[in-house]
Amino acid sequence: MLFRPMTQQDLSAVESIEMLSSPAGWSRQAFIDELVSLCSRCDLVILDGEIAGFLISRELCAEVEILNLAVHPAFRRHGLGRCLLQFRLDLYEQAGAERVFLEVRIGNDPARRLYEGFGFESAGRRKKYYSDGEDALIMTQTLRPS
Ligand SMILES: CC(C)(COP(=O)(O)OP(=O)(O)OC[C@H]1O[C@@H](n2cnc3c(N)ncnc32)[C@H](O)[C@@H]1OP(=O)(O)O)[C@@H](O)C(=O)NCCC(=O)NCCS
Repeated sequence: MLFRPMTQQDLSAVESIEMLSSPAGWSRQAFIDELVSLCSRCDLVILDGEIAGFLISRELCAEVEILNLAVHPAFRRHGLGRCLLQFRLDLYEQAGAERVFLEVRIGNDPARRLYEGFGFESAGRRKKYYSDGEDALIMTQTLRPS
């Protein structure tokens, strides 16, 4: 397993993981916007030479926001999501970030359990946040910058 930054050449593989993971998910343009944003980090996890998952995050004023995370269904439950998130949170922590926020669908148990395992806690709820009417849970975690 290795991690590397996403490039525009990876977008087709990333889009297909996104379509398999979130049917009404991000457009190609949404990924491109993050790739060109100076505040954003777009990471890939590679397994046996294949793109197995991605993580999009952003840092502003010592606050990190997890914007998107997905692992290809064929590679799930092998620890890749956890390793990818850990990899990026370690880097943010070393760079002095103090807090992480994210939004997750209230009914997304796999993702909620993943985040809870990192120590993320509930910090509120956004009613009907998603286009299909599902609520979002806001989760947050404090980092320990070195
Ligand atoms: C959420 C997601 C990224 C997890 O990726 P993954 O590589 O399968 O997760 P991991 O194997 O690293 O699992 C880490 C922990 O997450 C939790 N978890 C992951 N999948 C789970 C599932 N299907 N059911 C319950 N808990 C689950 C568990 O606590 C797990 O730890 P354990 O294996 O020791 O029990 C993946 O399911 C996914 O891509 N889902 C669709 C996209 C999505 O929902 N993204 C999150 C948007 S906020």
